[in-house]
Amino acid sequence: MNLILLGPPGAGKGTQGERLTADGGLEYVVTGNILRAAVKAGTELGVQAKAFMDAGDLVPDELVIGLILERVRSEEAKDGFVLDGFPRNVAQGEALDAALSDLGRDLNGVLYFDVPDDEIVRRLSGRRVSEAGRVYHLESNPPKVDGVCDVDGTPLIQRDDDRPETIRKRLAVYHEQTEPLVEYYAARGLLHTFDGTAPAEEVEAHLRKTVSTLRLEDAV
Ligand code: AP5
Repeated sequence: MNLILLGPPGAGKGTQGERLTADGGLEYVVTGNILRAAVKAGTELGVQAKAFMDAGDLVPDELVIGLILERVRSEEAKDGFVLDGFPRNVAQGEALDAALSDLGRDLNGVLYFDVPDDEIVRRLSGRRVSEAGRVYHLESNPPKVDGVCDVDGTPLIQRDDDRPETIRKRLAVYHEQTEPLVEYYAARGLLHTFDGTAPAEEVEAHLRKTVSTLRLEDAV
């Protein structure tokens, strides 16, 4: 199973990606977490990426494409992967196609979360994350103990790019650069659209049903 999670910032890609890959069967590649770890570690990539991320812009393709394709080609991803946050523009989509074609593999599906902008602003303003990137929301998915991750007990923080002015910029970048991928994948019959405004459990149930069908199709 080679899957992509696609949708605007805050659509629920991380929330659902964690659930879909919790059993460890598929390699979960979260571009934003990889970049945030590089920023935290102060690597050259992190130093270069930070200004773009803080401004709500995409990190340049020359920094991101090689980094993610290396994960796609890795031993850990040989039984399949879930990409979250990649591709984010058509050039990245084309680079992924070329890499998969070299590997003799295909994409099975693109799981697209449809959520309107006003809901995105509400979600991202209330989002809190743990050090490992686990996702909570002050209202819809609060931790058991205020300010602390349920799983590893680390403090929950607000991401730097979840400030209102940066959220608006990220949404504008999404509509301009990432949304064309919806048509790119729909034209190839790969797109599966989900109502991302439904409760997370409902979205998960729909996703699992679709992934099961894709698995059956893949086995034929
Ligand atoms: P990244 O970390 O990928 O951010 P994003 O795509 O903007 O997505 P988010 O992580 O903000 O949201 P999500 O869809 O995962 O939603 P979540 O599950 O957390 O990227 C950050 C930056 O890195 C980019 O701006 C860019 O600079 C750079 N970057 C990343 N990839 C790149 C690339 N390929 N090329 C170049 N640059 C790149 O949910 C959001 C909130 O809603 C949570 O609080 C959650 O609890 C809540 N929630 C989730 N589902 C539901 C539901 N069904 N109902 C109610 N609440 C819900």
